[in-house]
Amino acid sequence: MKILAIETSCDETAIAVVEVKQEGKKAKFKILGNEVSSQIAIHIPYGGVFPAIAKREHIKNLPLILERVLKQAKIKIEKVDAIAVTTGPGLEPALWTGIVFVKEINKKYKIPVIPVNHMEGHLFSIFPKKSKTFTVDINKTMFPMLSLLVSGGHTELVLVKDGMKYKKIGQTRDDAAGEAFDKVARMLGLPYPGGPEVSKMAAIERADGNNISSRIPEILLPRPMIHSKDYDFSFSGLKTAVLYLVRDLKEKDPNVLENTNIKQKIACEFEDAVIETLVHKTIKAIKEYKIKTLIVGGGVSANTYLQEQMLQKIKKEKLKTKTYFPSKSLTGDNALMIAIAGYYQYKNKKQGSRLSSIKAKGNLSL
Ligand code: KG4
Ligand code: ZN
Repeated sequence: MKILAIETSCDETAIAVVEVKQEGKKAKFKILGNEVSSQIAIHIPYGGVFPAIAKREHIKNLPLILERVLKQAKIKIEKVDAIAVTTGPGLEPALWTGIVFVKEINKKYKIPVIPVNHMEGHLFSIFPKKSKTFTVDINKTMFPMLSLLVSGGHTELVLVKDGMKYKKIGQTRDDAAGEAFDKVARMLGLPYPGGPEVSKMAAIERADGNNISSRIPEILLPRPMIHSKDYDFSFSGLKTAVLYLVRDLKEKDPNVLENTNIKQKIACEFEDAVIETLVHKTIKAIKEYKIKTLIVGGGVSANTYLQEQMLQKIKKEKLKTKTYFPSKSLTGDNALMIAIAGYYQYKNKKQGSRLSSIKAKGNLSL
């Protein structure tokens, strides 16, 4: 079967077409077409995603990208068997553009529509690698599974049981990890999206051999909720601690942020604080739930320090958990992951959903 997937939950307009070459538990996919059009450049002046502009851009981009992706895939839309569309979580005005677009296609061509949860998409994003074909092999030996989903809007630990049954065991009580990276980047005068920028600075600091003991005590930051008994996170206090730190440093020297060295130290300490907390809680959950497979997904999963630390800690603790991260090009939002998640939804239900029930849900939960 051939699946068309549409993703418009935030600032990326993404469309993909995949062919399921072999169905069943060990499903084989072929990527026929795939495109992600980022609006980052348009949102930079606002220092973050501006929903009304995201909506306008999606509406403009969707028909153009669809035409290109179908051309890449060398198929006519009539040959598509089902359409997967992200219905949440995300920015509602942005989500609606994808949904309305898909409903119009359905009206014209009667192709069934599958609503997809964006976070479930991130979970499935670990399967495609460099090649055009890939296998999604989810078998009983992989459970219980745990997923750490870390993006600009979410930070959650999800327990996955056989049959892809989800139970959220922890989440952020305020800011998401990616959001904290973006806000701290702004405080340091770095461009949006801030995650990669802050991380680059932190890496330079670490490469200089500056570990925690060589840091100026006044820039040491808290590790919020690291020792709380639950699996929740909180990054808003950490963000405020950076705000106060920058304010105090500026009081002493108004030009302090022109000093790249200081910025690197703050970036490094901030990244350490976020990653330490994420890794600590994930390891704790792996032990408690005897997790066999860990899947890390979402924009922040691109963070190389997070990847390194997670693998190191799992090894150090002698845990046998197999750990998966998406390929670099699939850590951010894309439609390929929506196509895979859509296939599994469709397979379970054996049909699309009633169109009237397909709505944008900004806070949709797994
Ligand atoms: O999943 P995603 O592309 O969009 C959402 O659904 O939110 O995640 C975007 C987030 C942004 O906050 C961005 O700063 C963060 O992921 N991010 C990173 C890195 N690359 C992207 N955060 C830390 N380190 C990175 N290397
Ligand atoms: Zn995302």
